[in-house]
Amino acid sequence: MLDLINVSYDTQIPNNVGLSSDKRVLKALEKWHPGYINWWNDLIPDNFQQSLVYLRTAVSVDPKGWTKFDYVKMPEYRWGILLAPQVEDRTVPCGEHIGEPAWQEVPGEYRSLLRRLIVIQGDTEPASVEQQRFLGKTAPSLYDLRNLFQVNVEEGRHLWAMVYLLHKYFGADGREEADDLLRRSSGSEEAPRMLGAFNEETPDWLSFFMFTYFTDRDGKMQLESLAQSGFDPLSRSCRFMLTEEAHHMFVGETGVGRTIQRTCEAMNEAGIEDPYDIDRIRELGVIDLPTIQKKLNLHYTLSLDLFGQEISTNAANAFNSGIKGRFLEHRIDDDHRLNSATYNVCSVVDGKIVTEEVPALTAINMRLRDDYVHDASGGIGRWNKIIEKVGVQFALALPHEGFHRKIGVFSTVAITPTGEIISSDAWETRSKDWLPTKADGDFIQSLMKPCYEPGQYASWIAPPRVGIDNKPGDFEYVKLHMA
Ligand SMILES: [Fe+2]
Ligand SMILES: [Fe+2]
Repeated sequence: MLDLINVSYDTQIPNNVGLSSDKRVLKALEKWHPGYINWWNDLIPDNFQQSLVYLRTAVSVDPKGWTKFDYVKMPEYRWGILLAPQVEDRTVPCGEHIGEPAWQEVPGEYRSLLRRLIVIQGDTEPASVEQQRFLGKTAPSLYDLRNLFQVNVEEGRHLWAMVYLLHKYFGADGREEADDLLRRSSGSEEAPRMLGAFNEETPDWLSFFMFTYFTDRDGKMQLESLAQSGFDPLSRSCRFMLTEEAHHMFVGETGVGRTIQRTCEAMNEAGIEDPYDIDRIRELGVIDLPTIQKKLNLHYTLSLDLFGQEISTNAANAFNSGIKGRFLEHRIDDDHRLNSATYNVCSVVDGKIVTEEVPALTAINMRLRDDYVHDASGGIGRWNKIIEKVGVQFALALPHEGFHRKIGVFSTVAITPTGEIISSDAWETRSKDWLPTKADGDFIQSLMKPCYEPGQYASWIAPPRVGIDNKPGDFEYVKLHMA
């Protein structure tokens, strides 16, 4: 009998979808595989291909014990295809088909919509690995290096998850799309990644932590919505991806938190009370809190742009067709059709920010963004607790949603972090106080020196409170094998 919980290794591609008896898809995936390995080998700096990394690998989809930790060379990581177990009698949770049995095959009328959503999701996964490819060279510790590589191999697995759906359910055009996922690359002139934030650089480790906190969280919200899909294989793929995604946001939250911790401690030790005494603080080899706020502003706003236009017919169609639900759709207490419901959306009218009631169906993106803001605000409170505990007078905050936006209703005006509309001249002079400048970037870059001794940490970041897999502080998370 087919084991749908534990991963089978009887094919080259570990899976719990019965690949060994699905010759057509197995063949297609085996054909795609070498291109993927080439992509991986080209992308990860040579220095780390031979290193042994203490990684977790998914060996089951049982929430109680789905991983195994071991030393692995990254090119030999067993990327697999894992779907969360099928929920019996699952139905379409929203839209005009609500209550009908969930689709096990692609509904013909929604084929192109569904394929597009899968491709967009798939495109972000390898993009982030590409963005992070140089970070290993400046890792602040072996612990952080290991976490980076863990995130990277799992984003690789998420690409596999989407590629499987394309090969299994979309025939020839699915195969083409799967090839294109390896053809596009982050920041490329000819073939960039599909979404803006995924073509930006991740130049330093603070950016990496901000990215995993804010941008992976956009990923989480998208996956949560797709986990509600009436197309059951997509729902099951995304449900399992979410279990892995939680670790990525943990890496981000604790990474920023440890950076803050070290800064506050160093200020204390040096007797510096004023968080704006930037030159003196920087001399301590730590990142001043105002600069951390600027990095937060940047990554938060780039991530808000990923939610698209506030009012969107595409989003309405995806919801109405039952292809994509809302965040925690099953817990929302309404008719799940939204034929007559309304939702509040901000817009800019005559130079003022106003709130308007619009049909809820058209405001699906806005609602998901609101859920995201709520979800993202939790960590800010926990970071502020760290600052408070050390006794420094400073508080981080999420900027206003209209600040520094390139997409949506706010993109036409300049707005301060506190939500005040200003002239573009004022923006020109003041934005350097709100967003990282070249000099800020150069300073952070100057701190990015590798620290590869087990148990040692770079000057700007505190050690973690607990190790991965409960390992002791001086555990050798990566056994380096440099060329
Ligand atoms: Fe992912
Ligand atoms: Fe992720």
